[in-house]
Amino acid sequence: VTVPSRSLLIALAKANLQSEADGALFERLARALKQAIADGHLGRDARLPATRDLAKAMAISRNTVVAAYELLSADSIIVSRGGSGTRVAAQGLPTPVHKAPAPESASRYAMRARSLGPITLVAGLPVPRYDLHHGEPLVHRRIFNAWRRKLAAATLRARSGYPCPWGFMPLREAICGYVKRKRGIECEPDDILIVSGTQQALTLVSRVVLNEGDAAVIEDPHYQMAAHALVAHGARVISVRTDQDGIVTADLPREAARLIYVTPTHQFPSGVTLSQERRLELLRIAARTQSWVFEDDYDSEIHFDGKPLPTLYSLDTSHRVIYAGTFSKTVFPTLRLGYIICPPQLRQDLYKAKLLDDLGCPSIEQAALAGYLQSGQVDKHLQFAVRELRQRRLDLLRALADHLGDQIEIGGQRGGMHVAIWFKGLDYCQFEQLLHLGAVRGLGLHPMTPYYTVRPIRPGMLLAFTSLTSLQLKVAVEILGQCLSEALQRPAAA
Ligand SMILES: Cc1ncc(COP(=O)(O)O)c(C=O)c1O
Repeated sequence: VTVPSRSLLIALAKANLQSEADGALFERLARALKQAIADGHLGRDARLPATRDLAKAMAISRNTVVAAYELLSADSIIVSRGGSGTRVAAQGLPTPVHKAPAPESASRYAMRARSLGPITLVAGLPVPRYDLHHGEPLVHRRIFNAWRRKLAAATLRARSGYPCPWGFMPLREAICGYVKRKRGIECEPDDILIVSGTQQALTLVSRVVLNEGDAAVIEDPHYQMAAHALVAHGARVISVRTDQDGIVTADLPREAARLIYVTPTHQFPSGVTLSQERRLELLRIAARTQSWVFEDDYDSEIHFDGKPLPTLYSLDTSHRVIYAGTFSKTVFPTLRLGYIICPPQLRQDLYKAKLLDDLGCPSIEQAALAGYLQSGQVDKHLQFAVRELRQRRLDLLRALADHLGDQIEIGGQRGGMHVAIWFKGLDYCQFEQLLHLGAVRGLGLHPMTPYYTVRPIRPGMLLAFTSLTSLQLKVAVEILGQCLSEALQRPAAA
């Protein structure tokens, strides 16, 4: 058995396969292995771990490792020698004959997009055995069955022409009823623009309210995809601190920001709620400075503690709030459907931006979703999801108390699908070790650092509880506790 060496695994972990968006996983693994060879973690003629062992250690499929080895073999970087396994080629890495093509010069947008750091919310990654990654809602088999029927019915009635760019009218009507029931929002179908999720909502809003160089505020910590959309657009992004009451309004910049992006119901990723006082203060500031407030209400339906506070949109009397809702958390993210409730002054501009962007969202999916909302099945599913997630969260918190006890502090937890935990006596070197130990034992752990402008003093992580059952959560936390004990045995950095 050729168990992968620790230094190779650390090199592969550092290569952070998750952060490289280019290519399939086996290609990224091949690149990371090539880099590890170039960095000397595997010398000439060194034996590579058996595919089965590497796959197990990295919690990925064996086929992926086999495909990566084949790719390296085809480039003569490694050689397969039957009985004696796979080895680095005796001549080492071939010297490249061709230089990599120089990157094309591109638009300012493309240059800014190229400069963005790794993104944590990416698809197509291997799923570890105990995945605590945020992003996935609770999806029950029932949803797919119901969805299949709605989709079939919508397809039978579908027209083949272009969709209405602003959205399928019965869906906009159904959303009016939905937001009134769920969030107490009074609006008309014409106020609603159907978009392909919060991400498109923010890119369209940026396009109509921000010029390059305009100031846009985000929360610190923040939702990465929002920050990236604003940076790529060319906004001058200003981070404003949050505390236990949400964004610290007193810290908003004196100069007027054109756009203020907030997650008031359930701050992402800390989990705190924006207090009523701060809500009113934020609206006063927006009215005074004529700023737009982008209210990302991404998971307010999953709330465990009574009803969430009223939205900024419904408190706002100056029409400065752009409300964004999504079906990524209530149905599933692959649907790519959400909505903007537009303030009257922006409605026509947003309509136009949507038309120019993609001519409208697919109408068959919109019709299916309208039927799904009207049938009451979304409400029914949400009742189930809140019940189930409340129990899972309780079980997660209990397991954390049992296995990590007072070694951690737990962040805001009135709702949502994840909790934030902070390690009290762990430094960042030990934390790296903890992540590594967790990865080897099948834990999908997600540090807080990518969401912060400045690295927080204490290391922390997000633990989502949608993908694992209560029993699996208990096992995962028990493993986490063991990894923590081991990581703590390493001497802390001086
Ligand atoms: C803060 C926040 N907003 C919005 C979303 C959903 O985005 P979308 O509607 O584009 O899927 C997420 C998904 O994880 C999120 O964390």
